[in-house]
Amino acid sequence: MPGITHWQSPNFFAYFPANSSPPSVLAEMITSTLAAQCMIWETSPAAAELEQKVMEWLRGMIGLPQYFEGVIQDTASTATLAAILTAREKVTEFRINNSGSAGERNLRVYCSEQTHSSVEKAVKIAGIGKKNLVKISVRNDYSINPQALERAVKEDINNGYVPCCVVATLGTTGTTAIDPLPAVGEICDRFGIWLHVDAALAGTALILPEYRWMLEGKEYIDSFVFNPHKWMFTNFDCTAYFVRDAEMLIKTFEILPEYLKTRTRGKVNDYRDWGIPLGRRFRALKLWCVIRMYGVNGLQEKVRYHLSLAAKLSEAISAEPDFELMVPVKLNTVCFRFRPEGVNDEELNSLNEKLNHLLNDSGKIYLTHTKLDGNYILRMVTAQTNVTMEHVEKAWELIKSTARSLSTSA
Ligand SMILES: Cc1ncc(COP(=O)(O)O)c(C=O)c1O
Repeated sequence: MPGITHWQSPNFFAYFPANSSPPSVLAEMITSTLAAQCMIWETSPAAAELEQKVMEWLRGMIGLPQYFEGVIQDTASTATLAAILTAREKVTEFRINNSGSAGERNLRVYCSEQTHSSVEKAVKIAGIGKKNLVKISVRNDYSINPQALERAVKEDINNGYVPCCVVATLGTTGTTAIDPLPAVGEICDRFGIWLHVDAALAGTALILPEYRWMLEGKEYIDSFVFNPHKWMFTNFDCTAYFVRDAEMLIKTFEILPEYLKTRTRGKVNDYRDWGIPLGRRFRALKLWCVIRMYGVNGLQEKVRYHLSLAAKLSEAISAEPDFELMVPVKLNTVCFRFRPEGVNDEELNSLNEKLNHLLNDSGKIYLTHTKLDGNYILRMVTAQTNVTMEHVEKAWELIKSTARSLSTSA
């Protein structure tokens, strides 16, 4: 099919996945057929109530405390923007919503150097300004350095800035690094800073008891986002956004024109006030279908299998003397590079870039890259819905033979 990138191919190992599955596709067909506009409870009560129900299920599945309330958003970017806007209003006692930011002291938002670009976008849109996004250095495992965070917060306070929000990531885009929530959360608590957690990909791994350690420190979290549309077999778009204090979220976004006044207001969830857009699709249905079809056990089995593929691939890479594993594998993403003997760092970068292009141009597999400490790194994500060991083994053979032919021809 010309002009289409096949995200649903099991040979798709690029970015993070945007998975689909039969129950989700079927639900999308029903959603498009109904074509309901689910902006408020009255414009489709079943959609609003199903949304509330599946978000309660998800909250339990990933181990968030019961006081969290959830809403489905389109993307993680939108949810993070909603979090930063809510944090902004909380710290300014709703003054910016009411009167604009003239006369306000500069707010500061903190995240690590490895945090996703959606945070920078949100800070720009929220009127906080790119210059007030403080990127904190990372530790050896590419997770945020809490000591550096604390130093930056103290320095900002001394210089008259107002710390507003920290964004911690579970599963960074480059290497799936896990920011330490207990240490970061304690700092947020001490200085009265909003803690937003971006678990876009890794949130799905929280359905596994053996990955719950990532949520240690959850008592500090104010808002939390993850994407069932990445790794939980639910068609794009479907983002789960949870907040500790739904009133704060609603107060940030609420509007009440005459035509939206209803008899049920205050007794039901009118999700138009839980985020940015007024209009909303019936996204809960596909999530409901996926969870009902596979069950928690079925989802756990699939996710565990993906994790085992990444672990096996990393062992295979470590066994080859002319390849280098760049970071110990934590989840489903394997970061490595080709490193034949006698090639310097600069040449290695262009060699690996060439390798990435050759592999992708073959049309057989698709990989994307990142840069770590100036080094060009290939990333292979083993999390597509239908990927098996056979696909991973074939891809690895192709990578090795392409790389070695490249080094012989150079
Ligand atoms: C850690 C992280 N956060 C946020 C995003 C943005 O996701 P979305 O496309 O849902 O806005 C991504 C995308 O890959 C991501 O990896």
